[in-house]
Amino acid sequence: MNRPLIAAHRGASKAEKENTLLAFRAAHRLGADMVELDVRRTADGKLVVHHDAKIGLKAIIRMRAEDLPTYVPSLADSLDACEGMDVNIEIKSDGNEPDFDSKQAVAHAVVALLAERGDGARMLISSFDRDTIDRVHSLAPQLRTGYLFMEVWPDATRMMRDLAGAGHVAVHPYRKVVDAELVDAAHANGLHVNVWTVDKPAEMQHLAALGVDAIITNVPDVAREALGVS
Ligand code: G3P
Ligand code: CA
Repeated sequence: MNRPLIAAHRGASKAEKENTLLAFRAAHRLGADMVELDVRRTADGKLVVHHDAKIGLKAIIRMRAEDLPTYVPSLADSLDACEGMDVNIEIKSDGNEPDFDSKQAVAHAVVALLAERGDGARMLISSFDRDTIDRVHSLAPQLRTGYLFMEVWPDATRMMRDLAGAGHVAVHPYRKVVDAELVDAAHANGLHVNVWTVDKPAEMQHLAALGVDAIITNVPDVAREALGVS
């Protein structure tokens, strides 16, 4: 395929409520190749899919899974709803949030779930937390892992060499830091470049011309049209 993959950000999140089974099914209907979703853990150790650390005023890490609103899906049900597409599982773990996961419980639980399901080949695990993807890689080197970031190191080549040397296969840069130098440095080190979050057709076409490997978008149908996918 000589065009970027189209990844539906939190599912087709313009068409349906983000990070819900409806949004994941809509992504398939609208022609996405992949779904991006956010995973967190509950007080009783269940993996659930939601972007924010809190629902209303209450932290998900202090709620039992059975007490969450019904629109918040489990990771397992989400992966089922993404049948026929690849899935970019973003593990949320941020030191400024109540569910910061210094023990990497989510990384361990995601690896265990994928091993049990046997469909890890269609998954790509990403995180802004470097320790998280390093842990996933050390637990399951066969799983694809990618690093999320908003800022490139001053030496892009060094950054890409470091990530590739640690066994990761992709970088997930914020759209505003992507340029030809970054794409070339990543590709020279064998890393895919999956850019977020891009909703404007002209920007999608510009990124495609730079050679990025995936465009993460809220509007997969718009991306298909912009990239001339029939
Ligand atoms: O994975 C790309 C993107 O989703 C990262 O930012 O805040 O939308 O999870 P955020
Ligand atoms: Ca995300």
